[in-house]
Amino acid sequence: MANFWARKSTAILQREAAQGDDGSLQIPKRALSALNLVGLGIGGTIGAGIFVLTGHAAAANAGPAVTLSFALGAVACACAGLCYAELSSTIPISGSAYTYAYATMGELIAWIIGWDLILEYAVAAAAVAVGWSGYVVNLARDLGLAIPARFASAPYVFDAAQHTWSSSGAILNIPAVFVVVVISAVLTVGIKETARFNDFIVVLKLIVILLFIVCAAPTFSIANWVTSGNPAGAFIPPNAGPGMFGWSGVLRGAAVVFFAYIGFDAVSTAAQEARAPDRDMPIGIIGSLLICTVLYVAVGFILTGIVPYDRLDVPDPIAVGIDAAGVGWLGPLIKLGIILGLTSVILVTLLAQPRIFRAMAHDGLLPPIAARIHPRFRTPYVATTGTGIVVALLAGLLPIGLIGELVSIGTLFAFAIVSLGTLVLRITEPGLKRPFKAPAIRLVGPGGVLVSLFLMFGLPADTWIRLAVWLAIGLAIYFIYGSRHSRIAHAS
Ligand code: ALA
Repeated sequence: MANFWARKSTAILQREAAQGDDGSLQIPKRALSALNLVGLGIGGTIGAGIFVLTGHAAAANAGPAVTLSFALGAVACACAGLCYAELSSTIPISGSAYTYAYATMGELIAWIIGWDLILEYAVAAAAVAVGWSGYVVNLARDLGLAIPARFASAPYVFDAAQHTWSSSGAILNIPAVFVVVVISAVLTVGIKETARFNDFIVVLKLIVILLFIVCAAPTFSIANWVTSGNPAGAFIPPNAGPGMFGWSGVLRGAAVVFFAYIGFDAVSTAAQEARAPDRDMPIGIIGSLLICTVLYVAVGFILTGIVPYDRLDVPDPIAVGIDAAGVGWLGPLIKLGIILGLTSVILVTLLAQPRIFRAMAHDGLLPPIAARIHPRFRTPYVATTGTGIVVALLAGLLPIGLIGELVSIGTLFAFAIVSLGTLVLRITEPGLKRPFKAPAIRLVGPGGVLVSLFLMFGLPADTWIRLAVWLAIGLAIYFIYGSRHSRIAHAS
């Protein structure tokens, strides 16, 4: 083991014992319990995906079999999740997929993954903050308070067909900026405070989802599976073209609802703040994934059993469901649940991003200031504040549509690398102490790579081009800055 760390991870180990120039302790506080970690996983996962995309995937791709799409999505995430769990118990240091790639495949691949993870965390946080703003404006209107669109949308819009930008007449998306600023402030003040705030939100949003399941279940009927395209009322409606119903629709549906699962892996960025990371990281990762899967499958099943699926291609499918179930009074509560859901997704993504920046700065790939820990709060306050400012600007100024699929492709890429890395480390370092071992790694590792690639190929060519451009920018930065300041380069 000593050899392994000496060869691959000198810089990683140095993070543990680092001290600031002013002599302050540069290590984060170990304050998170297993339950806090499960809360972070659920907090980062349940959001727009389940509340919005379920309806689209049912109406356009899978029908009632959206339940199967969710189950398939879970299989893909389970492979990557088991690998994340193994690596996070073996290398219990923050930085998530970046750190695992650093230890298993070297600095360049690690940089590529770290750069890629900005899509999963910072960019996702901006996209979700814009969604949050939309729901807050909507709920405020229900309560009789009109927030003018000029102050709640992006000043620029992008025409995807023409590839042109134009002014929308709006000034700034103020609610989106507001939520990012408030959450960044909470994150700076302390990890324990953040976890408490997150646990509170998670409990509320779980209550809202359970209320939906319990109140809607009595009106469930398979008669609702019958539609004009599915006269026999089959669970998997007959195929109507590639990705439209039948088994190919179930698969396409899985790619669509994959977005709903993004976030559970963020648990692994907080490894250095866990009290017993080798035991609790796998509990946090696998536990939150399991709970989300059960809830997603249940919501998908109930929703398509109370409303014919062809009526669900709307921005608020759950609201359509509760009206159909005759429990319209749940409407405002569901909206509140969505707002809370989105709040914790923003919280966890904004928690994850600075921890990855901190890890990268420690390895010399980003300026050292990004690694600074606050002497009193013991949080990476410089990286947190910097991330908050950039994300607030993105959320305040940019339209959302452009970036949703970029988040999915970036995450799938990270899942593929982590799955591969786990297998590589098993082969190259069979004797390493692994408190948690993914079962059947020779199936689970390649399975994670293949399923992630498969889902990536389900995304449009435009998204691939954006990913390629993003990675090219990242490589340029690495060769201009990272490769010259890298600790490894200086050590040799
Ligand atoms: N999984 C998160 C959501 O659905 C990103 O909002």
